[in-house]
Amino acid sequence: MTVRAFRGEILSVPHDPRDEPEAVRHERDALLVIEDGIVVARGTYAELAERYAALEIEHLTGLIVPGFIDAHIHYPQTDSVAAHGEQLMDWLTRHIFPAEKAFADRAHADAVADFFLDELLRNGTTSALVFPTVHEHSVDALFEAARARGMRIASGKVLMDLGPEDLRDTAASARSESEALIRRWHGRDRLSYAVTPRFAPTSSDGQLQVAGELLAAHRDVLLHTHLAENERECREVQKRFPDAADYLDVYDRFGLVSERSVFAHCIHLCDRSRTRLGETNAGVAICPSSNLFLGSGFFDFGEADRHRLKLGLGTDVGAGTSFSMLHTAGLAYQAALARGDRLDAFRALYLATAGSARLLHFADKVGALEVGQEADFVLLDAQATPLLARRTAGADIAERLFALQILGDDRAIARTYVMGRCVWRRSSAAPA
Ligand code: GUN
Ligand code: ZN
Repeated sequence: MTVRAFRGEILSVPHDPRDEPEAVRHERDALLVIEDGIVVARGTYAELAERYAALEIEHLTGLIVPGFIDAHIHYPQTDSVAAHGEQLMDWLTRHIFPAEKAFADRAHADAVADFFLDELLRNGTTSALVFPTVHEHSVDALFEAARARGMRIASGKVLMDLGPEDLRDTAASARSESEALIRRWHGRDRLSYAVTPRFAPTSSDGQLQVAGELLAAHRDVLLHTHLAENERECREVQKRFPDAADYLDVYDRFGLVSERSVFAHCIHLCDRSRTRLGETNAGVAICPSSNLFLGSGFFDFGEADRHRLKLGLGTDVGAGTSFSMLHTAGLAYQAALARGDRLDAFRALYLATAGSARLLHFADKVGALEVGQEADFVLLDAQATPLLARRTAGADIAERLFALQILGDDRAIARTYVMGRCVWRRSSAAPA
């Protein structure tokens, strides 16, 4: 058995502060004990020191938080970040579909998957719900690379039989390839499957039907797609489905709306959709970086909270411009404020950790660094830049966390741990 013990300051937010005022857990001087990758003790050092007196304890200087969980990201778009000039539909045609066609080459998929996962870890992200491409082997490439790193990752082949030439499947291949991938990967090590129709415009009715049938046949896989992101997209969906009550209803008619669903964006929702998302307990992945980059709009936190929606946070790289969940949390604050809502730093941390874990149905395993959970965590460095150090000098935990979200990014990730093992360590020393 491998036992590791760390002493340091620990912060986690296991529950949404919207629903539970006592959601924040903070120990200024804590002991964290890990056996074979699982947290077996966490508490104040004063409480636990005697019981674990025999252990060798490593001191970590900085703020320990649970590993970030990115609830919506596209690994094949790693090399398409910062593509200039278009909103969603033209951006897909001009930049994204050509880049995704290159994944017909398995070796290319392997190389991008390796870089992508290393970049997640470098940014303190230990888990993610990931879009690959339409190619079956793009999922194998990602899952093999995730397995090699011991990461908890959810993904599933993209379904898009109405996609552009050379980037489409069929309803039949969507079914057979998804079935094969579920058999191959779902529940293996830390990997799990998500049925992944790209969005309504790129799937035929027949293929959406297949997605619903896959979900009915596999009761513990997720549904992952985009919903109501950009105005033109919404108009196109309305035109194709004039009988649907709204965009969400299109998915609902095919059995795609449930507590296992994760819908990215949800910018342009009507009240009926929000009510339906609330009553089905479907998840919403908020992606503020992407929404700014593509001019899609601002997520409505006020309405989402009025309907008590289940929320998580995603970067949506490559429409999102940063892998950093810290930076993305800072943008979520700014997006909320643009509509007059205030997202406090603890709630933003919840969204980036336990909130996303809840969406991905592994909140019992990661996201809060509680006893019994897998020990994925990050060491944040509030001294990472001269300005951060100056701004956080003497600051309390709320101010320090907010400054890390507004001023911090990958530079503030001193170390990343997966199952108690250090998998990323920043080489540059913090400024004196
Ligand atoms: N909607 C359909 N496909 C995509 C995609 O690749 N990125 C984003 N942001 N939205 C989408
Ligand atoms: Zn996306």
